[in-house]
Amino acid sequence: MASLAPSTQCRFLFKKPNPSILPSPNFSSSVIRKDSPYSKFQLLKFTGMVTRNVVVSAVTSEKPWKRYPEGETKGFVEEMRFVAMKLHTRQQALEGEMEAKAPEEQPVENWEPTLDGYLKFLVDSKLVYDTLEEIIDKASFPSYAEFRNTGLERSEKLAKDLEWFREKGYAVGEPSAPGITYAQYLKQLSDKDPQAFICHFYNVYFANSSGGRIISKKITEEIPENKELECYKWDGDLCQLLQNVKDKLNKVAENWSRDDKDRCLEETQKSFKFYRYILRLILT
Ligand code: HEM
Repeated sequence: MASLAPSTQCRFLFKKPNPSILPSPNFSSSVIRKDSPYSKFQLLKFTGMVTRNVVVSAVTSEKPWKRYPEGETKGFVEEMRFVAMKLHTRQQALEGEMEAKAPEEQPVENWEPTLDGYLKFLVDSKLVYDTLEEIIDKASFPSYAEFRNTGLERSEKLAKDLEWFREKGYAVGEPSAPGITYAQYLKQLSDKDPQAFICHFYNVYFANSSGGRIISKKITEEIPENKELECYKWDGDLCQLLQNVKDKLNKVAENWSRDDKDRCLEETQKSFKFYRYILRLILT
């Protein structure tokens, strides 16, 4: 499933994967070299085991937002991605480490989506993108202005998709609790904590270009004429657009203290939680 995701292709276009830093898909701990940067991580004691060479991953011993040491040299986006990937379930992404519990965490291929549910998802997603894009336009903190006109914006595309459904005679409702709650949270957060807000900005846009595309493939057969929706089309090369945003994120985060960065990483869990409730609409 992961191989279908365009962001996987993008990732390998821009940097060579380094197997020594990729977590094993099957094990929650990996043996590492003594001189590896992982030696900065907390090493746990296991009865009867040599402890120096064992690093235990986020899922077992550490908060998922525990600092990813490679980020210091490779840029802060590496840290944000590291934390986000761990918060996926194993069924969602190869690097995921969470157990699937809720319906929307089950493998997408086993989902039984409904078109009504998907329309609710699009409506609530639009509210979230409208809100993110208004916040960025208003730029109550100067760093937000860096993220204007990135080409990742989804608000107008979603408006076109919803209009198409209306023209086809479908009832397109108003936003519901999951979207409204997330939008309110984003507005409040963006006025007081730019680092935490930027975590949501990263996760929501990058989720759409990876997991969002996987979901869209699953739902296409439910859509009249198997129409490919506008919200999964980008003007320009998606890999390049994503890379440009990563470069900007890295640049903005260069001015952040370690505390700022950790607060941003810590927010990832909230982003997943809010967004999951919106995803769940697809299955209603
Ligand atoms: C059904 C739900 C989901 C599926 C199937 C899914 C799937 C994936 C996959 C396969 C990747 C890997 C792309 C790669 O290898 O580079 C990925 C990346 C990512 N996902 Fe998800 N995801 C889901 C939900 C979410 C949620 C709820 C969020 C956060 C709100 C999220 C945020 C991200 C981020 C930030 C990345 C990194 C993208 C990149 O590096 O370009 N995902 N997702």
